[in-house]
Amino acid sequence: MKALILAGGKGTRLKPITHTIPKQLLPVANKPILFYVIDQVKEAGIKDIGIIISPETGAYIKEAVGDGKRWNCRITYISQDEPLGLAHAVKTAQPFLGKSTFLMFLGDNLIEGGVKSFVQEFESNSPEALVLLKEVLDPRLFGVAELNKKGEVVHLVEKPKEPKTNLALVGIYLFTPQIHQAIAGIKPSWRGELEITDAIQKLLDMGKKVRSHILKGWWLDTGKKDDLLEANRVVLDSLLKRDVKGDIDSKSKIVGRVEVKKGARIENSTVRGPVSIAEGCLIKNSFIGPFTSIGTSTIVEDSSVGHSVILENSRIHRMERLEDSLIGTRVELRRADERFKTVKIFVGCDSSLEL
Ligand code: TTP
Repeated sequence: MKALILAGGKGTRLKPITHTIPKQLLPVANKPILFYVIDQVKEAGIKDIGIIISPETGAYIKEAVGDGKRWNCRITYISQDEPLGLAHAVKTAQPFLGKSTFLMFLGDNLIEGGVKSFVQEFESNSPEALVLLKEVLDPRLFGVAELNKKGEVVHLVEKPKEPKTNLALVGIYLFTPQIHQAIAGIKPSWRGELEITDAIQKLLDMGKKVRSHILKGWWLDTGKKDDLLEANRVVLDSLLKRDVKGDIDSKSKIVGRVEVKKGARIENSTVRGPVSIAEGCLIKNSFIGPFTSIGTSTIVEDSSVGHSVILENSRIHRMERLEDSLIGTRVELRRADERFKTVKIFVGCDSSLEL
């Protein structure tokens, strides 16, 4: 079996940060989301991985992931000229996929507990496709599945106005090569994309079996700023272990599950976990509250920060209460006006803001 990870796309909903960083490389608990995806693919026993990249951001992905040696995998990069849909990405990858069955994984998605059991389920039951579903509050935003009494998928609709169920398609699928025939038989949707939902519906129309599995654990889809903060919260909450390797002075307090990497320094500050602080950071006269990740060599001074993701080489000064914020690399954020108390902000890279 092969794996196809989709790391192309536009990332429009995460602009301005995706002007400079592909969304699949945005960090969750200080590790790119794509790295968790590769970890889960590897853990499922798949070593032959194709990664869809776009002409705009492909070089960044290649540089970050490399040839796959770190995971002991073989990585093949597949350039998709335009982001014309998930099924278009599969079509583009057809020469790589050949006659192989494959796991398709959106490079900005993650699920609790990994995918190993679904790969095994697919291999032992041999359906044409296995889709993962999750009960959601607003199914109108997703591909939605209808099941029969045996739990088999009978119908799929992309972003229905009046959904018949609350079962959304999670961005992880297993396919036999039959999917290529189905994709050849579909047309672009109203938004001009070849939809994977339509291709799976086509499989059903062709009389093929599509099985499903309803996820009980968490599913993270990091398409928007608040989704990324939520992913950071969930991963810190469920996976972070206390690991303090940095330099903590005697006036500081480190409470709970906090990771302080080597070369980071905490001076006269309190850090209350779960929090991840990367190499080379300086936290001075500050409070860092739960569900915060701070990237390499960032400086936080005279500030209070909570429930936020700050990327590397940024400087945060005199922020009385910075929360629910996503801040890019090399950002300078300083409060000059005392009237700014609580600040919630989304800033792209290489910005300087004085509030
Ligand atoms: P989306 O989040 O649906 O699309 P996008 O990345 O273009 O984001 P936005 O809607 O904010 O502009 O894509 C899900 C994943 O699939 C993501 O990792 C990007 C990838 N993708 C491709 O590789 N090729 C494509 O043609 C599309 C549409 C997405």
